Amino acid sequence: MFESLVAAPPDPILGLNEAFQRETNPRKINLGVGVYKDGRGRTPVLECVKQAERLLLEREETKSYLGIEGRHDFTGLLQPLLFGSTHAAEFAARVAAVQTPGGTGALRVAADFIKQMFPQAQLWISKPTWANHPSLFEAAGLPVREYAYFDAASSSLNFSAMKHDLSQLRAGDVVLLHGCCHNPTGVDPTPEQWQAIGQQLTASGALPLIDFAYQGFGDGLDEDAAGLRSILAQCREALICSSYSKNFGLYCERVGALVAVTRSAVTAETVLSQIKRAIRTNYSNPPSHGAAVVATVLADPKLTALWHQELAAMRDRINETRALFVDAIQATGVTRDFSFIRRQRGMFSFTGLTGEQVDQLRDKQAIYMVRSGRINVAGITAENVGRLAEAIADVL
Ligand code: LMR
Repeated sequence: MFESLVAAPPDPILGLNEAFQRETNPRKINLGVGVYKDGRGRTPVLECVKQAERLLLEREETKSYLGIEGRHDFTGLLQPLLFGSTHAAEFAARVAAVQTPGGTGALRVAADFIKQMFPQAQLWISKPTWANHPSLFEAAGLPVREYAYFDAASSSLNFSAMKHDLSQLRAGDVVLLHGCCHNPTGVDPTPEQWQAIGQQLTASGALPLIDFAYQGFGDGLDEDAAGLRSILAQCREALICSSYSKNFGLYCERVGALVAVTRSAVTAETVLSQIKRAIRTNYSNPPSHGAAVVATVLADPKLTALWHQELAAMRDRINETRALFVDAIQATGVTRDFSFIRRQRGMFSFTGLTGEQVDQLRDKQAIYMVRSGRINVAGITAENVGRLAEAIADVL
């Protein structure tokens, strides 16, 4: 049977990482996969995580299975992060929350749940979006539609085109929104625009599905949740897929959650039962360790304070690096204005480089970035920024 198979193309993001590992140029630069790196190009384990792991080593009593929905301490403690500490209690009564293997796991469980419960739903994604979104939803059998998002000429949100596209929503459609730090553009709606999006979704009877993978990487934990909270102030139902890979640096532990906001406690129970069915037929129940680490940090005020400090340091480095990069490009004498990179938020920037220019940077300079022109700003360091800027000037 296998003889007839044709090889699949490499993944646009993770495949790039594999190619980077094979690269022999000692001056290679990886701006591909969205993984935080410090000023020395390392992805260290956070100190709050190390301390939580020491506590777990002492306290953990069993490695028996978790329930299908995962750890309740984890799914409880993450709700103040999503909803805000003053509103978490009022949401708690009407949410169904499950632990998932990473944010991608949450998205796939959400996709299966949507397909099984609402087979007529169309899934709307921004143009552009994370390279894995379309394939993930299509793999679950959902028809995928695109709404306009990014205006390449001004490197900003094309809100009138977005609104126009969303005017085609049918009741029962699902609209994927990036809660903050839009991947790949780094361009988010303003507070007024979030409000208008919420109004449009409510008026059309569409369900928001919020991909919330970078909380704390833009302007702060609460600041980055403002869009999500604005949507929830208007839409009484929503699905949220959150990830703790980036903000806790727990990439390989696969820590995420799917949170369904419903209208009542009774509905939340029903929704939970159907989400559990989707999980049981997929990976059965989630792994414990990463979520146990997050729950240990969030349950301990001292560890939480340490996490806030470490997260702020990652965020500050990214925002400082944006300025460093823009200055370095300007210093090469390039006339194109790259100042928009300072305004973008989160780990990514959409540079405006073409696929051909990206190929040249990889082939001639061993500089790896996603072919859409997306770069991981955290991959830039004081050491490599000069060479990177010169190489970009060269391909321009
Ligand atoms: C990315 O966009 O680079 C990250 O979300 C990692 C991934 O799985 O693609």
